[in-house]
Amino acid sequence: MSVTQYEIIDGIGVIRLNNPPVNALSHALRDGICKAIKKAQKDDSKAIVILCEGRTFIAGADITEFGKPPKSPSLSDMLKVIESSNKIVVAAVHGTALGGGFETALACHYRVALSSAKVGLPEVKLGLLPGAGGTQRTPRLAGVEAALDMITSGNPVAAKKAEKMNLVDVVVDGDLELGAIAYAKSLAEDKAQLKRVRDIDIPASKAGPKVFEAARTKAAKRYRGQQAPQNIIRCVEAAVNQDMDKGLATERELFVELMQGPQSAAMRHMFFAEREAAKVLGLAKDTALRDIKRVGIIGAGTMGGGIAMNFANVGIPVTMLEINQEGLDRGMAIIDKNYSITVSKGKMTEAQKAQCLSVISGSTSYDDLADVDLVIEAVFENVDIKKEVFQKLDRVCKPGAILASNTSYQDIDAIANATKRPEDVIGLHFFSPANVMKLLEVVRGSASADDVIATSMKLAKKIGKVPVLAGNCYGFIGNRMLRPYGREAQLCLIEGASPEQIDRVMQNWGMAMGPLAVGDLAGLDIGYKARQALSDEEKGEPKTYCIADALVEMGRLGQKSGAGYYKYDANTRARINDPEVMKVVEEQAKAQGIARRDISDDEILERLTYAWINEGAKILEEGIAQRPSDIDVVYCFGYGFPVYRGGPMHYADHIGLDKIYARISEFAKQHGEKYWAPSKLLKELAESGKTFKEWAIK
Ligand code: 3HC
Ligand code: NAI
Repeated sequence: MSVTQYEIIDGIGVIRLNNPPVNALSHALRDGICKAIKKAQKDDSKAIVILCEGRTFIAGADITEFGKPPKSPSLSDMLKVIESSNKIVVAAVHGTALGGGFETALACHYRVALSSAKVGLPEVKLGLLPGAGGTQRTPRLAGVEAALDMITSGNPVAAKKAEKMNLVDVVVDGDLELGAIAYAKSLAEDKAQLKRVRDIDIPASKAGPKVFEAARTKAAKRYRGQQAPQNIIRCVEAAVNQDMDKGLATERELFVELMQGPQSAAMRHMFFAEREAAKVLGLAKDTALRDIKRVGIIGAGTMGGGIAMNFANVGIPVTMLEINQEGLDRGMAIIDKNYSITVSKGKMTEAQKAQCLSVISGSTSYDDLADVDLVIEAVFENVDIKKEVFQKLDRVCKPGAILASNTSYQDIDAIANATKRPEDVIGLHFFSPANVMKLLEVVRGSASADDVIATSMKLAKKIGKVPVLAGNCYGFIGNRMLRPYGREAQLCLIEGASPEQIDRVMQNWGMAMGPLAVGDLAGLDIGYKARQALSDEEKGEPKTYCIADALVEMGRLGQKSGAGYYKYDANTRARINDPEVMKVVEEQAKAQGIARRDISDDEILERLTYAWINEGAKILEEGIAQRPSDIDVVYCFGYGFPVYRGGPMHYADHIGLDKIYARISEFAKQHGEKYWAPSKLLKELAESGKTFKEWAIK
């Protein structure tokens, strides 16, 4: 069936688009729209409506066509055909009109939207800018500041708000097709003007250079390291200072620059990686899912409370279980406080908060979990306590209930084997703060049933998480890779760097925070306790964590005790470099017989990032991650990795695996094989000139 159809209904030429799943502007669609508009010029239709079948209006340019040779008509050609139509063209929007989809609507003379619809220009999230007039038409309709905000954030706007912003002319409820045809008819009967957005002038006085300087400063801070927001600001500035055609040329030039650059390649990779991660290899598509109507959570601490909020937010009742009433009250008070913060930020109403709280109940009796469909255990990170909890769950939970652990490191099989139903057991590893962080590692035990895995992946989406399937090993994907990264940070510190240098290098490179500042935030005692549970062999060489251990033993636990690798201002929590820490570093280096030296920023960057990549390659070798891009999703959504670098494995492909392998081999010679034995897969790919991405599609 053709992706476009044209017919005259009630005197109006209706162009119907049908290009599932999201009506992306493929070549066939662009061509079909041009032909239909041209046909309508000559028939006796009084006006034209463009509408879409399926779940949404056009969701944008077809991202799968990016990087391929362009095919005519281009999107810009198509928009020219629409805008220069001699009959009024009305866009009828439902679902989401995004990117090139919204630009198509902006090239129409009028826009009607369902009240549930949203419009937006999310190109910045792909490292791009709206390349088909979006940066020129939006400020002409909505004003410069609103346009800057909308395009640099990429966030969609609901129909009613878009109407207020002058981006939509009419909002309708009920049948969109009928509403749009009626609207087009009334415009034709009233002989309404052909409203071409390109003809609107933006008075230069409304947006002087100061507005753009302020926007540049704000974007540099908010979207640190990203080029697209800066290019967007230049385009909107061109909309003010240049005529439409020159503005469009500026937009094109800056769009192409982004499209050819590494940031957009990385962000487009992440767009598909996120969607791919939800797919479980080898699982039948029609695997029947278990119904999750009620959830139990064991432990109302840091994680349990946040996890409960995710379910309450989508109306799934939660029962929280604690050791005693005091623990329960403490946990519930934290949940209440977290919701209050959301309300104070204007992201939730008091009524919504009350609604969420009303579905969270507390208990100290396991009997209250008899009826739940899923239990998530979030008690102390101790395998014996966890096993005991699972034995109790095995006794009280109904058959078919999913029994999950939020453990960060423990063996899911050991926990599963504490029950008589290991097939119902799985790891659901949330990240802190669990009500905010998007990542969910779904950890498959050796006995986890297919429907338990499929239900967990689906449920993750329902509560707004990005799920990634991981195999069962110490630390799964994310925390396992964090160990060599953290190890190299410690070794760089003792060998010659300062905490400030290490954190600055990683933050300037794009990490949300450097590794030592993260340690201070999480609490240095957590790693300390975890190390104590390890054998000497697992702990690594004494020099590796001696500084971290010394700091904890001095009572420097990180931000919570006011000092760790840094001092913290009691009021502002600002980080302050501390000579005391450097004394500890010098003493420990001396005790370990290490002569400290100058370490370059490049060496720090290579040692920390290549340590990740080598471990990531081992994870792939062992089948712990399904595909390299899953590791990228884990890092971008769970560890503050810069999305514009596309995750560690995409970054590795970008740098070149041969170069990385050669450097890792040098590190192995300098620092020993114990830490730097190169992954077999990395070696193989480096030697055969392949990338991780190419290996994944073998
Ligand atoms: N091009 C090609 N494929 C696309 C696509 C696009 N623009 N948008 C979505 N898809 C694909 C997805 O990859 C997915 O494929 P899969 O089923 O094989 O994994 C499928 O459509 C469904 O997508 P989602 O799973 O994301 O479906 P949802 O219903 O959850 O969300 C959506 C729908 C809100 C439209 C979301 O897909 C989305 O945000 N899409 C991207 C929108 C976008 O970024 N548009 C701008 C494109 S760039 C542009 O227009 C440049 C222009 O200015 C020149
Ligand atoms: P926490 O110490 O803040 O909370 C644990 C809670 O469990 C306490 O309130 C305690 O009273 C309760 N508890 C202990 N034993 C119990 C039992 N037998 N029955 C009922 N309640 C019991 O710990 P946190 O940080 O919430 O961690 C919980 C789990 O989540 C651990 O396995 C941890 O590894 C994991 N995790 C922690 C993350 C973090 O950043 N804190 C991140 C991801 C996972």
